[in-house]
Amino acid sequence: MHPDSQYTHADNAAVIFNELTFRSLRVKNRLFRSNISGQFDDYNGHGGHARLNWEEKFARGGIGCIISSFTPVSVRGRILVRYAMIDNDDKIPFWREVGNRVHAYDCRFIMQLSHSGRQQDMGGVENLFNKGLSSTNKSDYFHGLLAQAMTKPEIAEVVEQFAQGARRARQAGLDGVELHGANGYLLTQFLSSGINDRTDEYGGGWEGRARFVLEIVRAIRREVGQDFHLQMKINGVDHNDWLYPWIGKGNTLDETVKICTMLLDGGKGVDSFHISSGSTFPHPRNPAGDLPLNDLRRWYDGMLSQGTRAPMNYAIFSNPILGRAFQALWRWRRGKVIEGINLDYARAVSEEIVKIDPDIRVLCTGGFQHADRIADAIRSKACDGVTMARPLVANNDLPDILTRQNGPEKECTYCNKCLLNDLENPLGCYDFSRFDGDSFEERYDRMIKQVMSVYEPPTFQ
Ligand SMILES: Cc1cc2nc3c(=O)[nH]c(=O)nc-3n(C[C@H](O)[C@H](O)[C@H](O)COP(=O)(O)O)c2cc1C
Ligand code: SF4
Repeated sequence: MHPDSQYTHADNAAVIFNELTFRSLRVKNRLFRSNISGQFDDYNGHGGHARLNWEEKFARGGIGCIISSFTPVSVRGRILVRYAMIDNDDKIPFWREVGNRVHAYDCRFIMQLSHSGRQQDMGGVENLFNKGLSSTNKSDYFHGLLAQAMTKPEIAEVVEQFAQGARRARQAGLDGVELHGANGYLLTQFLSSGINDRTDEYGGGWEGRARFVLEIVRAIRREVGQDFHLQMKINGVDHNDWLYPWIGKGNTLDETVKICTMLLDGGKGVDSFHISSGSTFPHPRNPAGDLPLNDLRRWYDGMLSQGTRAPMNYAIFSNPILGRAFQALWRWRRGKVIEGINLDYARAVSEEIVKIDPDIRVLCTGGFQHADRIADAIRSKACDGVTMARPLVANNDLPDILTRQNGPEKECTYCNKCLLNDLENPLGCYDFSRFDGDSFEERYDRMIKQVMSVYEPPTFQ
């Protein structure tokens, strides 16, 4: 805690552990688990035992609400294989079980309805000959993943897939849905001026670019009614040109605020916004941290057959000079602030939205792991609550820790090793330096035991 702070830890805890009410949802505190998960499920998109354990451990640690990881509304829209989907009614029983597990801890569960669009890392055998559906025919700039501009019948079909996904989430007894409109996936590909190059009514100015998302919001309301929580994750600023200055810069904060206002749809639209930034995933600002070159080299080979630029990226990452230069660019573009990196964007959305409808809530993602920073963010009205991903992977019981003290003994270092391992390994904390032990073997064993804990107990005993 800052020594000059006028607030004690008890003051901060009182702010954080105060319940938050949305229009149709109550959460016991201001701490949300941000979207994060590994490839824990069956190849065909049915959920598995490891994911149940994964979600339960955060609920047990005291988090008020879990927002699921990327949950594809169709096979065509997945990013990686072995992620549980919501593309069919046969997935409802699994998600009902997820809800039951976390509800036992008075923890709410929001499903993130998602579509990769062209940003499909490894689409699996079903997508081998498909280009990613998108607003554009242009491939993504980072990996060179191929794209096909959606026709109007395809737009209508995907709108319906989102609506049916929301209906299934409600039938499964979950507490709400979030549209993944951030970080470069399909909805960003429509919203962003740096990506959407359409000349029909789904492109052009911000109103045209937001039409697709507004249609999704209305189709969801038609299916689930007004009393089911509907949230939108969105980039405060796209920073689309952050790594490649010669491409379009994407949406400004001003455009984002206008889009958010439009998505309120006169009181019938979304209930809350979840503010992020960066129009690709990953992006120097999301998850804001380091770019560990060894891990990058080890796992990026999985992308080699996916995008036209991946072989060139791999050559850059593997070259001792170019790799370090890229890493330096990454760190420079991230900036110095990690904890609360998106707060100014959240504040701008909050200030404008609250004037229109004081019942709309704003959540902010990005680096939060200290009680004083979280309490200040809420007190200053930049947001109503914060979402946390990596800090909770590092310390699953972070909410419980924050009831007692300002931060964890062993903080998340934002090294991003969890992120890069996620391409091939189970998700968990891979920062070796955070594990105790007298020898390399002891520390490594502890780290792996923590990573593998989601598989315990085994499905068959
Ligand atoms: C391994 C990994 C997987 C993630 N998966 C998702 C995802 O499925 N959907 C999403 O919206 N954000 C995803 N994120 C972003 C996080 O939800 C979060 O917004 C971001 O990491 C910043 O928060 P943090 O600093 O608390 O980690 C992921 C991040 C990581 C590190
Ligand atoms: S590997 Fe661990 S310390 Fe590093 S960013 Fe991920 S959770 Fe944090």
